[in-house]
Amino acid sequence: MRIAALLLAAGTGRRYGGATPKQFVALRGRAVIRHAAEALLPHVTLLQPVGDAALLDAALHDLDPGGTILHRPVPGGATRQHSVRAGLEALDALPPGQRPEFVLVHDGARPFVTPDLVRRVLAALDRHDGAVPCVPVADTLKRGRNGVIIDTVSRDNLVRAQTPQGFRFALLRDLHRAAAAAADGPAVTDDASLLEHAGHAVALVPGSEDNIKLTVEEDLVRLDRLIGPALLPRTGIGFDVHVLAPDRPLILCGITVPHPLGLAGHSDADVGIHALCDAIYGALAEGDIGRHFPPSENTWKDADSARFLAHAAGRIAARGGVLVNADVTLICEQPKIGPHALAMRERLAALLGVKLDQISVKATTTERLGFTGRGEGIAAQASATILVP
Ligand code: CTP
Ligand code: MG
Repeated sequence: MRIAALLLAAGTGRRYGGATPKQFVALRGRAVIRHAAEALLPHVTLLQPVGDAALLDAALHDLDPGGTILHRPVPGGATRQHSVRAGLEALDALPPGQRPEFVLVHDGARPFVTPDLVRRVLAALDRHDGAVPCVPVADTLKRGRNGVIIDTVSRDNLVRAQTPQGFRFALLRDLHRAAAAAADGPAVTDDASLLEHAGHAVALVPGSEDNIKLTVEEDLVRLDRLIGPALLPRTGIGFDVHVLAPDRPLILCGITVPHPLGLAGHSDADVGIHALCDAIYGALAEGDIGRHFPPSENTWKDADSARFLAHAAGRIAARGGVLVNADVTLICEQPKIGPHALAMRERLAALLGVKLDQISVKATTTERLGFTGRGEGIAAQASATILVP
């Protein structure tokens, strides 16, 4: 039996916010969508991601070493419905012998789908054209307007629909095509709705309260709690100094800062990133930057220090940890750091895959005292706090 799963990841996560779409946010060191993909993989013969190829490749690249199940991402559309359609058309374009008989449509933002839940959905497709995992509505339902309750809504027969929703492939494809072709076709937020509109019976199977869709920021805390063993905080500090010299670009915290002098060193001498790397390695008790990137190795000559920071971030992920926050202080009289601090924070946050408010960059002088005071060099110190199992 050929069963495909569409893994939806083309949304921007407006309600969640942040620069990274929610399905790519790290949950215990792995992208949310990676958890979802790992859960679906054992149940399907074909996994079709829908969304940005670069982000999906980064999250899923080593998911399916055999390369037989995971297909190349296809771009999504402006709405979830458009994205599903794009995925279905990609499946339809396969040679007839590879086209699936059944398709599961799953939100990439739902990381905790269990094997039992997937089995229940698939089992129901024996006798139904579609199946939806649902959970009961526990709370009393109210309708409100302008901050005042105007009505109580009966809970009778109400359930909350989750994904993966399962369907006969050809039926769902045809319904999506028809909805797109009709000028007044239905606009839906899940796929079962299309079967309902067309009068098909859709089976209702038990879902799971843990099958949470990451929607708003506090959901990430709930998801993290569900994973189990608490993460413990660890803090590291780093310190670095480089000599100011002519004829070198000045690169600080990943940003090129206009200045008559630059920092001398074996790599690009980004003193801020070096201190930050050491803070992270220190928090992990994994030595220091020199151990991971020995200056004796020519490979690192003039190297972009962004690589070092990406490595440090990778070590956090490899340990199943997350970065809580980092704080960098640059110590120099000149140049003035203030005008560049935001760009530095943005760059560091992007390299570490965290939000801007988790990264601080600030500066101080030493009142013209010492080597920094005389402008002979720039020093940096950093602290980083991480959570690890
Ligand atoms: N999705 C998609 N293409 C879209 C919109 C949504 O592939 N144009 C995907 C999302 O990436 C998500 C799933 O559909 O995995 C469920 O949608 P939702 O939770 O609404 O995600 P977003 O639309 O990204 O979030 P928001 O509605 O808050 O903007
Ligand atoms: Mg949406």
